Amino acid sequence: MIDKARPEAVIIALPNFLHHPVTMAALKGGAHVLCEKPMAMNCTEAAEMADTACCLNKTLMINFSYRFKTTIIAMEKVIQSGQVGEIYFANTGWLRQNGIPRGVGWFYRKNMAGGGPLIDLGVHRIDLAWYLMGRPKVESVSGATFQKFGPQQLPDYDVEDLAAGFVKFKDGRCMQIAVSWASFCETPEQMWTELYGTDGAAIERNTNGGYQWSVKILKDVAGFRIGGEPSRMPDKTPNSIDHFVDCIMNNTKPGPSAEDGLEVQRILDGLYQSAATGKKVRFDTRPAGATQA
Ligand SMILES: NC(=O)c1ccc[n+]([C@@H]2O[C@H](COP(=O)([O-])OP(=O)(O)OC[C@H]3O[C@@H](n4cnc5c(N)ncnc54)[C@H](O)[C@@H]3O)[C@@H](O)[C@H]2O)c1
Repeated sequence: MIDKARPEAVIIALPNFLHHPVTMAALKGGAHVLCEKPMAMNCTEAAEMADTACCLNKTLMINFSYRFKTTIIAMEKVIQSGQVGEIYFANTGWLRQNGIPRGVGWFYRKNMAGGGPLIDLGVHRIDLAWYLMGRPKVESVSGATFQKFGPQQLPDYDVEDLAAGFVKFKDGRCMQIAVSWASFCETPEQMWTELYGTDGAAIERNTNGGYQWSVKILKDVAGFRIGGEPSRMPDKTPNSIDHFVDCIMNNTKPGPSAEDGLEVQRILDGLYQSAATGKKVRFDTRPAGATQA
């Protein structure tokens, strides 16, 4: 299709192991690319995708679609206003009681997905918290993964079903994350992004175990702890596809850029590496590099 139809832009919504080869083919074929999350299977692939888009002067956007939710845009505005002070700690996660994506066989195979809930669900949560913190540079990560339920349900299951991690940034701030496809969590599905600052906190959670969302801003006023939801959400926000098209038409950089995808991929790689070795992973300054502590 790329060779014959020469599309100006493509959306790549394929299994994770195809994101890199098909993005590379599309960019080299002259197309702008909106690639689904995760950007790639690992940061070596992601770095090559980002470099190629840059060299060929093509738009490469990663579909961190949760950034476009009105609740996240409201949180972003509150944080940028300075009302919650300096954000120094993020607590984020996505736990499912029983949510192994069993209908589609590739999701729970390492050679096609790259991992389990960490690369599938955690990638969104890490991106959101990291983005709302102002995209800090990563210093080190520690992670652990568990495989307690998946193999009992599906014989060829070979990824984690729960992952936990801790990310330290070069400026001293930090983030913790927990994700699962299967666990004894309280509701069928719970998602949260909590940003703690020196003057307050901004907290987004899903409600009733589903896909409705609430945002709460917590502050001290005259010695009282005040917590409330914004009186209204931003009226209309573009979705990620509209934003991709706008960026191409106006020759502007997309919100979740290839560089953002790469940085998030480095965190994922580090967490998996740390889980495999039992050691903290330190990041050097090279874009795709990480070394064990
Ligand atoms: N941004 C989001 O919130 C979000 C939500 C869902 C899925 N995703 C991502 O989108 C991607 C696809 O997920 P999905 O749930 O739609 O998976 P899926 O398995 O349901 O769909 C994948 C599609 O790719 C096609 N395909 C597979 N191999 C192919 C090949 N070699 N050549 C051409 N087509 C091929 C399949 O026929 C299928 O239509 C994943 O990377 C997933 O992480 C992102």
